Amino acid sequence: MIGSANGYRVSISGLGAHVPDRVLTNEELARMVDTSDEWIRTRTGIRERRIAGPEEALTDVSLPAARTALERAGISGSQLDFVIVATVTPDMTFPATAALLADALGASDAGAYDLSAGCTGFVYALAQAYGMLAGGLCRTVLVVGGDLLSRIIDWSDRSTCVVFGDGAGAVVLQRVDSGGFLGFELGADGAGGRDLCVPAGGSRLPVTPEVLAAGQQYLQMNGREVFKFATRVLVSSAEKLLEQCGMTVDDVDVYVPHQANVRIIDHAVEKLGIPRERVVVNVDRYGNTSSGSIPLALAEAVGEGRLTKGDIVLMTGMGAGLTWGSGLMEWTEEAA
Ligand code: ACO
Repeated sequence: MIGSANGYRVSISGLGAHVPDRVLTNEELARMVDTSDEWIRTRTGIRERRIAGPEEALTDVSLPAARTALERAGISGSQLDFVIVATVTPDMTFPATAALLADALGASDAGAYDLSAGCTGFVYALAQAYGMLAGGLCRTVLVVGGDLLSRIIDWSDRSTCVVFGDGAGAVVLQRVDSGGFLGFELGADGAGGRDLCVPAGGSRLPVTPEVLAAGQQYLQMNGREVFKFATRVLVSSAEKLLEQCGMTVDDVDVYVPHQANVRIIDHAVEKLGIPRERVVVNVDRYGNTSSGSIPLALAEAVGEGRLTKGDIVLMTGMGAGLTWGSGLMEWTEEAA
């Protein structure tokens, strides 16, 4: 799916992010599995990641991010028409984490649902919210991207436990007079679904003692295949969207790629030809936070004063599905 802006203009009016306090370093991981700080840094660029405490669920980690986003937008929870939470690690299979979060925010009449598109979830959710706002169905939507992948990791599997971390980001989307979202490009290839999945816990393979003994409740990843997929779609999705919007990479002021692996980002940056100083990278401190990755990086860029009104911002994610998605926007004054 690809499309450029139509209907009401829509932008980010408030932005927030939150990560758990607990820092897990590469050195600590090297005491848990057969790995080293050097291997993790050179193969992924990651130095440390955050891990949620045993008492924290996704709503707990998302709530501070959502509150900050509402505060920056200058609105209260009761003004929200809709809440979308992009995640693969909801508090429970159901009800939707979005409904629990909406309740915690006092958004008593808001519609609420969770969206599952792996690490691309945040971009998918932005596109969904954009559609509802641009079409006039809503005036104010909260989009949260967040995951606690530490909950579905096999901590004895060195090929996965070193790359992921926990975190969440949130944005309030509202109508604006000009600027804002310019277009989206989203796609999926279910043929690669098995390359990144949690085999058990759904209707195909309910959890039984045998399933638990085989570790099928944990995230499984064919890292090499996902790596190849990621390097391909980060480039193709961005190129397609820029062309659709009548722009080129030269127009992009700030590039916010999914933070999975610094080698994947480097590859995309080189192929696209985006100058390094325009790229936001924080994977070194948070690892791959899945749906939390892009909003966390965006919040960091805003916090560092890297975004000003009129800047063209390109975001591209890819992940489980396998899915990919890009969003292009013109940063607006209202954007906090
Ligand atoms: N420490 C030391 N050695 C390791 C580790 C580790 N943590 N993990 C794997 N190795 C070993 C392997 O066993 C292998 O050894 P062998 O050659 O003797 O067989 C060797 O290192 C190379 O393994 P590769 O899997 O080829 O390593 P690679 O360079 O591909 O890096 C990684 C692995 C980091 C997982 C990489 O493939 C990657 O980043 N893949 C993409 C992941 C991703 O982007 N996911 C995004 C979506 S996530 C979502 O949607 C939830």
